[in-house]
Amino acid sequence: MDLEALLTIGALSERTGVAPSALRFYEAEGLIQATRAPSGQRRYSRGTLRRVSFIRVAQQVGLSLQEIRDAMASLPDNRTPTERDWHRLSTSWKPRLENQIAMLERLRDRLDTCIGCGCLSLKACKLLNPYDEAAADGPGPRYLLTKGPYAAAGASASASAEASCAAPACDG
Ligand code: FES
Repeated sequence: MDLEALLTIGALSERTGVAPSALRFYEAEGLIQATRAPSGQRRYSRGTLRRVSFIRVAQQVGLSLQEIRDAMASLPDNRTPTERDWHRLSTSWKPRLENQIAMLERLRDRLDTCIGCGCLSLKACKLLNPYDEAAADGPGPRYLLTKGPYAAAGASASASAEASCAAPACDG
């Protein structure tokens, strides 16, 4: 194998922006593989740049290490993955990523209104989560994790709750 064509851990770190300690961790977790130079130092194929880039971004958007490990396990060990290999991986991630996108959109759109967390601290909570009825669906901010009451009322639910609570009769 031509070690000249391979990357040192420093070069891989510099190009990906991922610390060498994290790269060693990825290797220990089986997410990437290194060969060894005669000196014993790690060497990586250039294809590792793409693997590390995917791992890094997947972590940043909230995928767990186990999800990433499962996906990476579908890539071939003995050769650089082709477009077809990556397409297969991306297809398996699509439903998960679409869920993640939907949750991020809810977070973006509901930061200033009731998220169904049980605090009942906003005026909108009276209408959207009266008596914390969202707790019946499970723990956590129910209206970020699911569509909650916004599913039926659409995007106008928040505005309408705020408009209702702005009325003099609302003491919320
Ligand atoms: S924001 Fe917490 S229950 Fe409404």
